[in-house]
Amino acid sequence: MKYTVKQIKQIFLNFFEKNNHKVIKNSPIVPENDDSLLFINAGMAPIKKVFTGEAIPESKRMCNMQTCIRTNDIDSIGDRHHLSSFCMLGSWSIGDYFKEGAIKYAYQLLVEELKIPASKLYVSVFSGDKEKNLPADTESEEIWRGLGFDDNHIIHCSFEDNFWRMGDGEGPCGPCTEVFFDTGDKHGLSYEQSGYFDDKKRYIEIWNAGVFMQYLQHEDGKTYSKLSMNSVDTGSGIERMVMALNGLDSVYDTEIYKPIIEFIENVSSNPNQSSLRIIADHIKTAIHIINVGIQPSNVKRGYVLRRLLRRAMRHMRVIGCDEKYLEEIASRTYDNLNSCDIAPDWITSKSDIIDVIKIEQEKFLKLLANGLKTFEEFISNPKNISDGKLDSTLVFKLYDTYGFPFEITKELAFEKGLSVNENEFNQLFSKHKEESKGDIGKVFKSGLADNSYESVKLHTATHLLHSALKKVLNENVNQKGSNITPERLRFDFNFERKLTPDEIKKVELLVNDVISKNLPVVKEIMTYEDAKKSGAIGLFENKYGDSVNVYSIGDFSKELCAGPHVANTGELGVFKIVKEESSSAGVRRIKAILKND
Ligand code: SER
Repeated sequence: MKYTVKQIKQIFLNFFEKNNHKVIKNSPIVPENDDSLLFINAGMAPIKKVFTGEAIPESKRMCNMQTCIRTNDIDSIGDRHHLSSFCMLGSWSIGDYFKEGAIKYAYQLLVEELKIPASKLYVSVFSGDKEKNLPADTESEEIWRGLGFDDNHIIHCSFEDNFWRMGDGEGPCGPCTEVFFDTGDKHGLSYEQSGYFDDKKRYIEIWNAGVFMQYLQHEDGKTYSKLSMNSVDTGSGIERMVMALNGLDSVYDTEIYKPIIEFIENVSSNPNQSSLRIIADHIKTAIHIINVGIQPSNVKRGYVLRRLLRRAMRHMRVIGCDEKYLEEIASRTYDNLNSCDIAPDWITSKSDIIDVIKIEQEKFLKLLANGLKTFEEFISNPKNISDGKLDSTLVFKLYDTYGFPFEITKELAFEKGLSVNENEFNQLFSKHKEESKGDIGKVFKSGLADNSYESVKLHTATHLLHSALKKVLNENVNQKGSNITPERLRFDFNFERKLTPDEIKKVELLVNDVISKNLPVVKEIMTYEDAKKSGAIGLFENKYGDSVNVYSIGDFSKELCAGPHVANTGELGVFKIVKEESSSAGVRRIKAILKND
């Protein structure tokens, strides 16, 4: 191996430091005060305000190595060069040097310092967009030509590929110039001028050597104005750089992944390359996410984490890797981040990180056992399959009733040579949301102030709270009143004294535990008498008529109720009690919310 990850990091940072760039710190992977982004996805994300002049930079020239998380490419993970977390080496000029300086630095570092033959490098430049009134980046092209690059090595790319912006909303943006490394004939045909440039297999992007932040994209996402100063943002994935410089076949052959993959391979009975890579990648990213205090859940960041962990665990099954090895894989991954000098600031201890993984594993194993059995049953009946597609109502049922993530059903189907209809699934999902909202006629009976989805979710949470209070305090605790707005639930119940912090915590834990089990909320219509006999709780005054609705959530809650409810507790998010106070003599009042991660 010519270079280690540690060496490349040092060479990159030293090079820019030598050229008067200040090394700034690696930020935590969850953006501070910025809800527009789930995770830091580029080195410039934590400092994005310096480009628009809204914040003052530490220095006009900066550089660092930033841990980034990108899960939009999750389906590509397992190929040669996609990762869900990676380290981005970045350099910035804020209102200082511009295109000439940035391209010169890129050339010096790659060709002169790292001695990559220029013949192995290809560069892309922005070809302009008439409709958006954005000119071609002829300046960058001329600068590359001045360094000896010709038509055979300069590729003109459109807005989609070579105009960098953070997303569809307001933000700094501009044309960029990317550097690609030729991984050789064994990875495909060579590029002929104006022909197809294969940036998927043969030519691997190793550095976005300059995003030339010249414009501000307006909120509409399609009009632009000039920024008051020109800046440069560059970013290079260290894993790809190490792969290219060492002539490796993939990023998974770098020391960041190789020892982990070898370990998993050794303890698996039926390994395949893609699963090995997925496991190593996902566990590493999960460790980063858990480190900043996020727990697996069903929404937002917690959902990304849950999905990564569960997908890794499922692939362990695929390759015959016993579940007992998960802890060891996580432990080795954690240690290896330290050895490779790419660890984040550890906020959570190693043992706490591993505990989170183990708890999620227990939950998932239970769920998988049920869901897999049901999936097999579904596909064993030819009636459930038409034109190689699994009936969408069953796919939805797997999600809705068994808490099986849609992506897992999709993968399982694929492995069996079947497919699923994602559009139909999404339609069923929206329909079910609408139906939850739609039970408006009954809304006031259940204390809901409106028919929003948020209120419906809080209503289901109210049932869980009711049962949890009975379990934590005593069975005689009963509902005395309920009022729900989209922001919070308010629940009154008979109890003589203030709850202790410990009791409040226990109630929250119980409710959140049921939420995380993805239990279906099942409605049964039965006679009033049967409902009473079944042990359902609720207001048993004879006001519902002869037949009544009973809503059950596993064996945790069974309650007489007019609805509406969500279909699955997994939709709720994280339950939190925000207030506990007296309502009237012998009656306490709890206010609680559902958080999104
Ligand atoms: N922000 C640019 C990118 O993500 C350069 O780092 O490609």
